[in-house]
Amino acid sequence: MSWEPNSWREKPARHMPDDYPDRAALADAEKDLSHYPPLVFAGEVRTLRESLADVTKGRAFLLQGGDCAESFKEFHPNNIRDTFRVLLQMSVALTFGAALPVVKVGRIAGQFAKPRSAPTETIDGVTLPSYRGDNINGMAFTKEDRTPDPQRLLRAYGQAAATLNLIRAFASGGYASLENVHRWNLEFVADNPQKERYAELANKISESLVFMEACGVSNVRAMREVNFFTSHEALLLGYEQAMTRVDSTTGQWYDTSAHMVWIGDRTRQIEGAHVEFCSGIENPIGIKCGPTLDPDDLLKLLDVLNPQNVAGRIVLIARFGASKVEAGLPQLVRKVQRAGRQVIWSCDPMHGNTIKAENGYKTRRFDDVALEVTSFFDVCRAEGAYPGGVHFEMTGQNVTECLGGAHHISETDLSSRYHTHCDPRLNAGQSLELAFLLADHLKAERLKSDN
Ligand code: PEP
Ligand code: CO
Repeated sequence: MSWEPNSWREKPARHMPDDYPDRAALADAEKDLSHYPPLVFAGEVRTLRESLADVTKGRAFLLQGGDCAESFKEFHPNNIRDTFRVLLQMSVALTFGAALPVVKVGRIAGQFAKPRSAPTETIDGVTLPSYRGDNINGMAFTKEDRTPDPQRLLRAYGQAAATLNLIRAFASGGYASLENVHRWNLEFVADNPQKERYAELANKISESLVFMEACGVSNVRAMREVNFFTSHEALLLGYEQAMTRVDSTTGQWYDTSAHMVWIGDRTRQIEGAHVEFCSGIENPIGIKCGPTLDPDDLLKLLDVLNPQNVAGRIVLIARFGASKVEAGLPQLVRKVQRAGRQVIWSCDPMHGNTIKAENGYKTRRFDDVALEVTSFFDVCRAEGAYPGGVHFEMTGQNVTECLGGAHHISETDLSSRYHTHCDPRLNAGQSLELAFLLADHLKAERLKSDN
């Protein structure tokens, strides 16, 4: 059967809601969406593919990050600005460390739908559908909230459009100019432990800019604007299908809901609907690679998703857990290397490191996150592959969701600012701390290979 935007409907689809009470209303909402303007343009997606091709070849580094799940409740310009700013700060630190361009991709402007470990949740003898993300149902434990509502798709589209609009303004309207490196720091909460280290870096950048200007190099676009791309998990395929359009210049299909989408660790079945859908769109595709992924199946996935073996199409996002990465990842990397496949290896050190605190909070230890990243780097290098990127769940807010870091967030601190709608995120300070740690690591490797 040939690919169509709706050909996934013939395949088994895991983690998709099948309990919309009014299927006709769902079809109507999807039809409405299919007439809405695209959120991103094919040309931008091609630009991202080119940038990712550079990452594949070891000439750039990928930084992907944002909320586990965006929500209607946390929708606020300050939240968008703060996440965007921390990603910029992290990117500056990484650029310095790696001496390479950093490709910036947010988990933002569409990251709503979540795969859940169980389809229902039981509290005090009452069983209701699990919360699946704000574009599907609501988080409150009531029948009304937990019933999937198609109108939420339209609201999520609206939120994604407004978020992207603000990001575009920040990216090209002056906020992201390197001349503002100090201003980004001033907006940090006063006692952020990374403040001083960042100020030092910002001073170096300012000095370099003055020096370049004195040499007659000024007003360079790359200094004043950034390319910032969006991404989310392609989980809710009715929404993705509705946003998928033919590009008039090439005649190819693009999912215009985001620049990049990824396939989750729970929906990467070769014969499944999610792989079918992603096989026909031109966007870069991420594949989450967890401990249950068989190396031969990974090659089969690459055959289906990137039959021409084009660089810039595939990002393999390893998410093993700090204690499993050394045992599980080498086989995958080796297989892919030996088969000569063009991929980016990126590390998601979040999803394999989720634990339950004594007081019931779902959390992650900063040290586990850091350890998984460094182990990932070591494994890739040992196998002769380029560790090309990282993928974080993080926010620009000063939340208390992950343990540790320079602020030593403890289990008792978790309750003070635990706002996530799904998994625990690194806060602004922890994110930047991790970026500095990574930058040091990248710099040490670079100096080693220079000598
Ligand atoms: C996610 O990235 O939010 C996620 C659910 O990850 P994974 O598919 O790797 O579990
Ligand atoms: Co998550």
